[in-house]
Amino acid sequence: MTAQFLNRSFFQRIFGTPATHKPIDPQCWSFSDDKITVDLKRATELKKPGGALRLEGGGLPMRVLVICGDDGKFHAFHNRCTHIGHRRLDPVPGTGTVQCCSVGKSTYTYDGKKIFGPPTGPTKTFKVEADGDRLIVFLG
Ligand code: FES
Repeated sequence: MTAQFLNRSFFQRIFGTPATHKPIDPQCWSFSDDKITVDLKRATELKKPGGALRLEGGGLPMRVLVICGDDGKFHAFHNRCTHIGHRRLDPVPGTGTVQCCSVGKSTYTYDGKKIFGPPTGPTKTFKVEADGDRLIVFLG
């Protein structure tokens, strides 16, 4: 698999501005007992492949990126590039990858393996289960 790059401006890369915004509906998710629960009826960002939710705060022990993948499945990542800048990740639609928003463009497969960029290691992924209109992300 070869990396393809998300179309981002020079300044977006320099400042590490991710393409993925915080949820349109901030009440579409909650966190307790090491689990994130996403209400898929409210999380409109996840309705089609290439969509993503950027989850931060709300008692979360770490930033989390949840995506609807090109494979039609949901995937979740520690939203922290493993390169030294530790910037956020975005899905790269149509490629089966997520990519750092910074200039290094570190790119990872859905199972966290690095395929491009300066980091030496993978990024952390989390188990995800779809249960009707709910999506559960297991951080523990
Ligand atoms: S922080 Fe991601 S490539 Fe540098």
